[in-house]
This record gives sequence, structure tokens and C-alpha cells, in this order.
Amino acid sequence: MDFAKKYGPTALIAGGSEGVGASYARLLAERGLDLVLLARNTAPLALTRIALQRQFPDRKIESAALDLTAPDMLDKVRAVTAGKEIGLLICNAGSCERNEDFVDNDLGFAQRLATLNVMAPMALAHEFGRAMKARGRGGIVLMGSFAALAGSPTLAVYSAAKAFSATFCEALWHELAPFGVDVLHHQLGSTDTPFIARHYPQQVGKGDNPDTVAAAGVSGIGDGPLLRSPGGAEFAAYLNSMSRADAVRAAYEAGKAFMAG
Ligand SMILES: NC(=O)c1ccc[n+]([C@@H]2O[C@H](COP(=O)([O-])OP(=O)(O)OC[C@H]3O[C@@H](n4cnc5c(N)ncnc54)[C@H](OP(=O)(O)O)[C@@H]3O)[C@@H](O)[C@H]2O)c1
Repeated sequence: MDFAKKYGPTALIAGGSEGVGASYARLLAERGLDLVLLARNTAPLALTRIALQRQFPDRKIESAALDLTAPDMLDKVRAVTAGKEIGLLICNAGSCERNEDFVDNDLGFAQRLATLNVMAPMALAHEFGRAMKARGRGGIVLMGSFAALAGSPTLAVYSAAKAFSATFCEALWHELAPFGVDVLHHQLGSTDTPFIARHYPQQVGKGDNPDTVAAAGVSGIGDGPLLRSPGGAEFAAYLNSMSRADAVRAAYEAGKAFMAG
């Protein structure tokens, strides 16, 4: 398969300035795709864009600073991508930096997290998936988490939003397959990203390598609807072997171990 012909000429990476998103960006440029990278903070975004442009002088690497949870997000993305053929959409941004019981946290935080993981990928998949379907080729990747394998106490909205993402991807995968568009839910376990270093420093050095994770994703875009990082299939089988009540308790214990490092 000619990767750039199938998924090019341009990939849009929502959350492409660091971690798994930046690793995807590098691997996609390596495979011949131009890039549009989105993130909120301008400095890391510019650093990543400049580094990639130096490494891949023949590719067109662009970036735009925007918040995927802002009400005018889609208008801004349309402006940035105007005139470009987005053949691959990667929705990477989605992490949760708070671990608190749902009712003890503020509702605004929960709503932003749901917007980031549900409404924003939905809007982007609708916008670019339509064009891909019309063109008869393309790919969509939404990033998930093992936290979705059961309702995860202290991560209630995060785990539920990622479960939405997994189910949504399955349906899109079936709907778009006849039109040559691949859809993948890329479900990650603990991964050593800058986000983790900032918010869960006790986990640094313990998770998967973002480059390895992204390499599996790039190779697996056509093998949807679900790709799990190592350990995910075993964790899912373990949780499925018990009652849902016990699965939730087990997810809680796994989360506690994660917090404790
Ligand atoms: N790391 C893990 O252990 C782990 C485990 C399971 C699943 N995952 C999933 O993997 C994905 C990547 O995780 P990550 O650890 O790299 O952290 P992340 O914060 O979800 O992703 C980092 C990228 O997203 C951007 N971003 C975050 N919020 C944004 C917003 N509101 N608008 C625009 N851009 C935004 C970040 O830049 P700015 O901050 O500058 O905006 C950065 O480019 C997420 O979907 C996460 O749920 C991660």
C-alpha cells in the first residue's frame, strides 16, 4: 500500500505538539505526509513544528494554537485547513489531570473533559470523515485508554468519554470501510508522555514509549476498529472474567496503584 496515496497529502493531528501526538507527527512525515498540528500552548507547538520541518524539509509542516474545547473550535480548524486535503485525522488530545470523585470536582472541568474527548473528535470526524468518504480514501484515529474498560472511580467522566470513543469508532469503522476510509480506536495504557511527567510524576519511566506506541498506531490504521497497547487485551479479559461490580472495584485498585506509582 502506498501510505501517502491512501492517507495523504495532509494529516491533521489534534494534540500534536508533544507525547504520542508528536510521535505520530514524526512517523507520518517520515511516511510522506504534510502535517497540520494543533495544540493550545504556542511554545512547544512551535518547537515541534520547527524540529519536524528541519528533519523533513520536503514536507509542509504547519501548526495552529487553539483550544479544542472552545465553542468556535471547528471554525478555527476549518480556517487553518482551508484548501488542504486532510487524508488522515488523528485525535490525540484527551488526558485528564484530576483524580477526584465526580461530585467533588467542578462541573465545568467535567464538561471540558467530555468536550475534549467526545464533542471535539465527533465534530472533526464529521467534518473530515465526510470529505474522506467523498474522496474514497483516508483514515481516522481516535485515542483511547484502558480506563474505558470499566467505569474508573475518580476518573468517571474520562473513562466514560473514552468508552464513547471506542464504541463510536467501531460504528464509524463499519460505516466508512466500504468507502475506503479506515477508522481506528487506539487504546493506550500508561505511556511516558510530558503530560504524565507534569501531572503524575511518580509514573515517569514506567509507561510505554510514545514512539513505540505511535509506531504501532501508524502500522495499524488499516486494522481497526481497535488497537490496544500491550497488556490491554489481558486487562480486558481479566475484567470481563468477573461481575461488573468486581470489575469496577478492580479498576479502582488499578487506578490507586497508578496514583501511588
Ligand atoms: N499518557 C498516558 O499514560 C495515557 C494513557 C492512556 C491514554 N492516553 C491517551 O493518549 C492521548 C495522549 O495523551 P498525553 O499523555 O500525551 O496527553 P494529552 O494532554 O492528552 O495530549 C497531549 C497533546 O494534546 C494537546 N492538548 C491537550 N489538551 C488540548 C486542548 N484542550 N486543545 C488543544 N490541544 C490540547 C497538548 O498540547 P497543549 O497542552 O499545549 O494543548 C499536546 O499536544 C490522550 O487521548 C490520552 O487520554 C494517555
